[in-house]
Amino acid sequence: MFASRIDKIKPFRVMQVLQRACDIENEGHRVVHFEVGEPDFDTAAPIVRAGQQALLDGRTKYTPANGIAELRSRISQYYEQGGVRVDPQRIFITSGASGGLTLLSALLLDPGDEMLITDPGYPCNEVFIRLTGGVPRVLTAGANQGFQPTQADVQAAWQPATKGVLLASPGNPTGTMLQARQIVDIADYVRSKKGFFILDEIYQGLTQQAAYRSGLELVDDLFILNSFSKYFGMTGWRLGWLVVPQAAQEAVTKLAQNLFISPSSLAQYAAIDAFCDEAMQIHAERAEEFLQRAQLLEAGLRKLGFIVPVPPQGAFYLYVDISHTQMHSRDFCFRLLDEFHVASTPGEDFGSHQSERYVRFAFTTDIESIELGLERIGDALAAWKVA
Ligand SMILES: Cc1ncc(COP(=O)(O)O)c(C=O)c1O
Repeated sequence: MFASRIDKIKPFRVMQVLQRACDIENEGHRVVHFEVGEPDFDTAAPIVRAGQQALLDGRTKYTPANGIAELRSRISQYYEQGGVRVDPQRIFITSGASGGLTLLSALLLDPGDEMLITDPGYPCNEVFIRLTGGVPRVLTAGANQGFQPTQADVQAAWQPATKGVLLASPGNPTGTMLQARQIVDIADYVRSKKGFFILDEIYQGLTQQAAYRSGLELVDDLFILNSFSKYFGMTGWRLGWLVVPQAAQEAVTKLAQNLFISPSSLAQYAAIDAFCDEAMQIHAERAEEFLQRAQLLEAGLRKLGFIVPVPPQGAFYLYVDISHTQMHSRDFCFRLLDEFHVASTPGEDFGSHQSERYVRFAFTTDIESIELGLERIGDALAAWKVA
């Protein structure tokens, strides 16, 4: 009765980990959460106030399918601060980056068309591709290349059925960024094949010493995926945006009208205030806090013998090589959770390339919890007699 794509969707291990962690908490134990890919901070107060006001003002109706003009114009100004002019007409407000991925898959793929994605990478990407009959083709990007593909990799993987590529910078689960040169080179190649290049910038702002803020500073004809979920701390509001090349505006409008009618009205009115000075100050402080957590966790894990082969340049993840434990990362994660109440995500959630030796630790928890987590991981290694 169900479509064949259902059988191709793998279970999302992190949800199993989360479920198990909740069960352990319900038994009365404290769990340290390194598995969750969302900021632990509440949405900044100015955004919440704007959301409350929007409700009182009766902003409870459909909006234009591409989103309200004021929010699109704020996003355009945000790009302008980074030195790029983006016509607000090219900006589409979506239901999270997930809504943006749905639109792009419908826009760009016919059944049988291939889209290149990375291993390791964000696991849901392939589900969006399959949704419209597309076929994901994997680019393996190991630690030796910063977990990001090169133009040569894209070229080698490109087949007659390939229509484009989806990359993320910084990426999930690794936090590594594409170098500016890589973006330009890949874009040149993709353009020569008349393909599309989607760049997922959902962790924009949560970066350290990045050479660029948006790929749009380097290349104009990208499809950009972005979101209010991560830097702006609005995961549950379900709001994101796309920037599309001018030629795609009409087609995306038609799709957005039909598929979603409009993004959440309340969330949009609230998100306008995500760009006010007070909120931007809060977001900057939180980004700084993520940096401190990253340093603490990375140093602590290294001390315990773990390898962080490529230090992240952004996001809130460490992709850690656990091979010195001689354990499969799935066993490591489930035993660490069951026996020591520390939750983390096994590499197999993000692909199959050497995934048995990688674990993702998300530092979406406070400093005190990170210290406790490190202590417990140390206890686990001692109990398991890992040298
Ligand atoms: C790389 C990446 N892209 C897209 C998403 C989807 O985010 P949302 O739909 O909350 O905007 C996520 C969520 O974790 C992600 O890590």
